[in-house]
Amino acid sequence: MDYLKTQSVKSLHGTIKISGAKNASLPLIAMTILAKNLVNIKNLPHVVDIRTLLKLLSNLGADVNFLEDRVTIDTSVLTQTKATYDIVKTMRASILVLGPILSRFGHCEVSLPGGCAIGQRPIDLHLKALEQMGANIEIKSGYIEATTPNGLQGCDIIFDKITVTGTANIIMAAVLAKGNTTITNAAREPEVVQLCEVLNESGVTIEGIGTAILTIHGTDGKLLDIKDFSIIPDRIEAGTYLCAGAITQSEITLENVEPKHLGAVLAKLEEMGSSFTTTQDTITIHPSKTIKPVKIVTQEYPAFPTDMQAQFMALATQAEGVSIIEEKLFENRFMHVSELQRMGADISLNGHTATVSGKMSLSGTDVMATDLRASSALVLAALIAKGETNIHRIYHLDRGYDALEKKLQGVGAKIERLSE
Ligand code: EPZ
Repeated sequence: MDYLKTQSVKSLHGTIKISGAKNASLPLIAMTILAKNLVNIKNLPHVVDIRTLLKLLSNLGADVNFLEDRVTIDTSVLTQTKATYDIVKTMRASILVLGPILSRFGHCEVSLPGGCAIGQRPIDLHLKALEQMGANIEIKSGYIEATTPNGLQGCDIIFDKITVTGTANIIMAAVLAKGNTTITNAAREPEVVQLCEVLNESGVTIEGIGTAILTIHGTDGKLLDIKDFSIIPDRIEAGTYLCAGAITQSEITLENVEPKHLGAVLAKLEEMGSSFTTTQDTITIHPSKTIKPVKIVTQEYPAFPTDMQAQFMALATQAEGVSIIEEKLFENRFMHVSELQRMGADISLNGHTATVSGKMSLSGTDVMATDLRASSALVLAALIAKGETNIHRIYHLDRGYDALEKKLQGVGAKIERLSE
């Protein structure tokens, strides 16, 4: 297995190109199931989760081709409607094929995604909404067996909780349904917005894009002619590299980034002392000499994202004072804490709230990645820890970061990928 060997650096300098967003790519790849044409997707990130979902579509019979500057997906030849355990167990976001397959074929079997390191990750809201739209849902031997004898029927869905992939799943189910579907309490993440925009440009009338109330006008089974599109920049990858600039007190510039998707993250970094120069598609961080402590509560977009919580915890270990970080979305998203403590961080946990006392000097050691964003927090800590840090089990990192060590090497980090 690979691991990252990292030495501390005085500072970083230069430019990092941000890749396409993993969490926009996944629903947009599933969306191709609704197409009658071959779909061209540009700027997909080279990460494991994307390859996993593309493999799932190939297993269903889709024709997937990787070209120089884009990936083409032709689902007009789909033969299968069963997403099997071997793939779904490696990536729970495979659940995103349920809505489109059911909407197009009237039946679908998807292995129950199960939980993951950060929590139970239930999908009850996805299933309840599909039942409201007329689906029969049964759970048999670890599989969701969904059928719609009379096709899905548009209706008014109210989500008890805001769910990102739940919103995406129901949007895609509603596209081929009869009649209109209104989703109240919809997720407003930029990744959901892009899904709506691409569908809109492909002839689906969707009202309320970017708001918590979406209305999708179903095509009553008519497949879509999906226009070419390019994946939006990954705001979480961008936020992670901004934290790298802040924790090493370095001035670095991010390119191919969308500053307006990072409002809450930039605001928190400013509270901690950084300042920024932004253009339409770049952000330059100007770090402060001292890092101020901060209070963070993770919530749905546009508030502070849970996917940046671990990275800010690493940064908070270098703040002059006590920071409070409350994780409100997932029940077990503090697994990076014990590894940061082993590096010398002073963090105490009380339920879903972490108290981080700084400024603590960290020492390099062997640490273990436990989930995607926890891995990136350990990389950030390793950049400033005294001596050498070896980060193991970085298959977690490879699920969602495109060439992280190469991008950091490009701005002067001493980090290399080795095999154990
Ligand atoms: C998406 O996960 C992201 N993944 C996650 O990013 C992200 O952390 C999360 O949204 C929150 O922003 C993708 O987009 C592929 P949710 P998702 O459904 O959709 C509860 C990363 O690091 N819930 O919005 O699975 C759930 O337990 C990953 O890139 C139900 O109770 O998250 C959680 O508490 C990690 N029932 C809350 O809602 C349901 O049916 C938000 O979950 C669905 C969700």
